[in-house]
Amino acid sequence: MSKMQRIGIIGSGGIASAHVRAYKQLHDVEIVAVADVIPGKADQFVTREQLPGAIGFDDHRRLLELDLDGVSICTPNASHHVTTVDALRAGKNVLLEKPMSVTLDEAIDMVQVANETGNMLTIGFQPRYDPNMKVVNEIVQSGKLGKVYYVETGGGRRRGMPGGTFISKQLAGAGAMADIGCYSLDMALNALGYPKPLTVSAYTSNYFGTNPVHHPEASKFEVEDFGVALVRFENDLVLQFKISWAMHMDTLGSTMFLGTEGGLKVNPYGTGNWSGVWDGRVGEMKLFHDFMGKQTETPIPVTNTDLNLFNEKVRDFSEAVREGRPAPIPGSQIVIQQAIIDGVLRSSAAKREVAIELPF
Ligand SMILES: NC(=O)c1ccc[n+]([C@@H]2O[C@H](COP(=O)([O-])OP(=O)(O)OC[C@H]3O[C@@H](n4cnc5c(N)ncnc54)[C@H](O)[C@@H]3O)[C@@H](O)[C@H]2O)c1
Repeated sequence: MSKMQRIGIIGSGGIASAHVRAYKQLHDVEIVAVADVIPGKADQFVTREQLPGAIGFDDHRRLLELDLDGVSICTPNASHHVTTVDALRAGKNVLLEKPMSVTLDEAIDMVQVANETGNMLTIGFQPRYDPNMKVVNEIVQSGKLGKVYYVETGGGRRRGMPGGTFISKQLAGAGAMADIGCYSLDMALNALGYPKPLTVSAYTSNYFGTNPVHHPEASKFEVEDFGVALVRFENDLVLQFKISWAMHMDTLGSTMFLGTEGGLKVNPYGTGNWSGVWDGRVGEMKLFHDFMGKQTETPIPVTNTDLNLFNEKVRDFSEAVREGRPAPIPGSQIVIQQAIIDGVLRSSAAKREVAIELPF
């Protein structure tokens, strides 16, 4: 039997439990420590999640003094930067929950520290593990669409607003853009090979979140619940991006890739108030093209899978660490969508188009 892999968990709130469940599926992994800033919370988590032998800490730096193969970072967005940088500098490999960071500067710093230290920084986008997402990638990258010049993506929930740390500007940094926008951006940009963004013109608002009729924590609601943006990229590509946590509409439409030889339409998965976004699986897919001079629509078969996508991302991180593979979803890639979200917020505040500048 191979050596047990030693994992630490930083932040012991809601999503940390999902990480624990996923690690428990792996036979050669043990969770040896948990840290949370709230005194005693990590200890309670260790007991509740039945992690015998794991040590609870009130400070993530104490946890990082241990000999660990990797850490899952499950803190609110505002603590992603400090915990990730400390973990990388302490020689640990990092699986960081999405979104990558609050600010672009933080994301850039995290990538630089990962490069300097040579430790792994992977970001937890579990939709990437849906086999249908892989089909979207394969179609776009196969060249079947010709030159892709326009992409429309994003999604809208009719009513699906979180509360707590997600609506605090200080803790979350951004609202719907960061929470669910990051998934649709990742789907589109990953298929396109993460092209370089140049400018963004955006609008955001929060008419639902700040209305007590629609949100029980309306007086504390400080982030955007709706956003729309036009992003220009190198090589004559534009992307229209729209996101909503709440709206008086059933859908914000499909994701579309328009190319000179074909178009790909990907519908959102599921029904109901919290559906309509790309935070899990994809729905119906169709390819539009001309065949023997005829306008043709080809349905793309959708794979119905029992895969638990969340468990898959944790497994892939663990195996990548064990096998010395590169980060499955590298921070150096995700920093690009962080730059777009940063641009959306700047453009919306300035009410004009802004440039996106990246040092890489
Ligand atoms: N991938 C997904 O499907 C998914 C789903 C939900 C949340 N998330 C992400 O996971 C992160 C956490 O979300 P959550 O719902 O678990 O939040 P949460 O508020 O339930 O839990 C966060 C925990 O981190 C602790 N914490 C804060 N700062 C810390 C620090 N410096 N060191 C150690 N602990 C610290 C808090 O005390 C809290 O217990 C967010 O970034 C969120 O976007 C991802």
